[in-house]
Amino acid sequence: MAKIFQKNIKTLSKKDSFLYETLFHNANGYIGVRGCLEEGVPADFNTMRGTYINGFYDIVDMKQAENLCNFIEKKDTMLNIADTQTIYLFVNGEPFDMLKGNILKYKRTLDMDAGITQRDIEWKSPKGDKIGINIKRMTSFEELSLFTIEYKVTALSGNVSLLFSSKHIPEVMNYSDPTDPRLAAESPKFISTIEAGINDGVSYALCETSRSKLKCCSVVSHEISDAKSRLCTVKDEDGNLTCDVVSDLKKGESVTLVKYSIFTDSLRCEDPLSSAKEKMAKVLDNGLKYYYKKQAAYLEEFWAGSMLEIHNDPKMNEAVNFNMYELLCSSAKDSYGNIAAKGLSGEGYEGHYFWDSEMFVIPFFVLTDPYLAKMLISYRYRTLEKAKENAKLLGHKKGALFPWRTITGVECSGYFPSGTAQYHIVGDIAYAIVNYYLTTGDLDFIKKYGEEILIETARLWLDVGNYVGGTFRINDVSGPDEYTCMVNNNYYTNRVAKYNLSWAVKFYELLKERGIEKELKKKVQITAAEIKEMSEAADKMYFPKISKDGVIPQDDSFFDKPVWNIKATPKSDFPLLLHYHPLHLYRYQVCKQADTVMAFFLFPDAVEKNTQKKSFEYYEKITTHDSSLSKCAFSIVASKLGMQDKAYKYFGNSAEFDIRDLHDNTSYGIHTANMGGSFMAVVYGFAGLSINEKGISIAPFVPYKWSGYSFKIRFMGSRIRTDVTKEEVSVVLEEGEAFAMKIYGKKTKITKKKTVVKV
Ligand code: BGC
Repeated sequence: MAKIFQKNIKTLSKKDSFLYETLFHNANGYIGVRGCLEEGVPADFNTMRGTYINGFYDIVDMKQAENLCNFIEKKDTMLNIADTQTIYLFVNGEPFDMLKGNILKYKRTLDMDAGITQRDIEWKSPKGDKIGINIKRMTSFEELSLFTIEYKVTALSGNVSLLFSSKHIPEVMNYSDPTDPRLAAESPKFISTIEAGINDGVSYALCETSRSKLKCCSVVSHEISDAKSRLCTVKDEDGNLTCDVVSDLKKGESVTLVKYSIFTDSLRCEDPLSSAKEKMAKVLDNGLKYYYKKQAAYLEEFWAGSMLEIHNDPKMNEAVNFNMYELLCSSAKDSYGNIAAKGLSGEGYEGHYFWDSEMFVIPFFVLTDPYLAKMLISYRYRTLEKAKENAKLLGHKKGALFPWRTITGVECSGYFPSGTAQYHIVGDIAYAIVNYYLTTGDLDFIKKYGEEILIETARLWLDVGNYVGGTFRINDVSGPDEYTCMVNNNYYTNRVAKYNLSWAVKFYELLKERGIEKELKKKVQITAAEIKEMSEAADKMYFPKISKDGVIPQDDSFFDKPVWNIKATPKSDFPLLLHYHPLHLYRYQVCKQADTVMAFFLFPDAVEKNTQKKSFEYYEKITTHDSSLSKCAFSIVASKLGMQDKAYKYFGNSAEFDIRDLHDNTSYGIHTANMGGSFMAVVYGFAGLSINEKGISIAPFVPYKWSGYSFKIRFMGSRIRTDVTKEEVSVVLEEGEAFAMKIYGKKTKITKKKTVVKV
């Protein structure tokens, strides 16, 4: 099934233009370029003309009004780097501008098989010249530093004289919005040029950030299809570089300008300028077609390993595939970066990484491309020392406290009740490592990196918690629900902490059993007594007592608070965080997102199903889903509890969240966690996938609107395909060794011969 997302557009509207910058952005995990119009937009249009490098940052002040002990006063921020997407076009002297003259046809396309975005336009200039324009853009998976624009113009009504004025602007600003807490409030200039110039028509600019003192380099080169066209590149007094191309076309003729941009940075290479120039020489040698071919081949492999098809519901099929594609585009391919809450599609949340990565994105990659999951975890390992320093700042004598939001590993949250206090991120990282191990069996990774993280995080829990009446308690933390902060014994947090502690012990025992624990022991200086302490804290972990109505309290005091009346709250007051003081919200039973419910997904056997059901129904009534991370979690748990219609309803909202801009904020960037969540809602939810120490199992159902669905996942190095219809489930091994899997509770050997089970 071709994977194409298309929009036929009649006029250029303010709202859509901003939104499509996100929906049609190009990214490959290293660079991201928003889908801004090459020719720009009128001054009264909102635009975030951005190009970003994953993990590349500057440092900005985060002034605290009251400078209490060890409050952070600086934070990382993702940078907007050189603008190389601007190309002005003049047709017989008139600027191409979609708001002038007439748009005769206009279509924007994201081709998820080819890995390119396109604009197809037929335009009549105010003077009456008709031209066809086709613009293809790509951020290459083969050469991660490469961004290309292929700009083709066809003379439709008569002879035209064209001038392309293609820009390379090194010094740009970040976007800001002082009215929205989810965006940066100010927009200083982060970047200045150290060196810029032109060599053989190729422009280059080496820039430095103002405080992190990192360097990034952009190199731009052009090719024109018509040998008669004239190219000339100049640098102006502002340091901007322009390549002007003049081309004359007769009616029916076309000309194509190809613009290659290479981006490099000093995080990943010592000399970004030489590296960018070398890369450019190689790219020009290979040519654009070569990269198009490689792009398609890369995606063919991606879809072969990550296929998910929904039968009979093309809209949902498109939405889920869009989400999966965007995850691939957003996720770092090395350990210098991670996956930001908005990927590389916009500046919302300043390019910070959250627990989103571990709980919503890693579950996708673990099943489809474990190498990328490993990279995301490796990034955490890279920042382990900083997490230990962070723990010290917070007064802990030992352990690692990963920051709530960050780029480099330092805490970047300025408001600790719904930031730093979300200690659950520590347990989430541990959970993701265990998940990676249980799905891949990669003990070598655990030995070298994973267990070190688990030990340091388990140590943190030992230092955070304390014993009361023989039970281990964790006070003054915030769970995932950001409308309830600074509480004692948040159910979710205590669950992940218990898991973290017990797996630190399990892995240690496993490595010892295999005689491969020595290196680790030396590195982390772990003693038998400390292992015992971890084991005890896990065993004695306290959980808030189930109420007499059979519901699990989100934390110790949750049920002492009045219930917020969601139904009586005006629609315009949502999201509540933009309309109510946080402290006010904390005093009510009102949830921004799945918290206790999310724990049911992660730990389905921890409490009885009936308690989970009652709790689910309770939290459903008091959850606003103001966070995009919420409905996907509700969907998965509804599936697991047999509430199929609810599961589908929540899933639909999650799947279409960005592609249909359901929260009216996709313009600022996609919501990567929710994108992973929508995949999980199908595979973990509808298909009932479960992977734990006992092995792998599925128990699928088909939502009432569908005739069926198919998906591929990896387990222990093998790849399987599962087809689900209302009548039967079939599973076949596509790659690797046969293994045992439970289907509806019955152990079955999955081989190259299709296993068919009647529903
Ligand atoms: C959610 C957090 C999430 C963050 C970034 C917030 O709105 O409450 O759970 O980590 O967004 O996506």
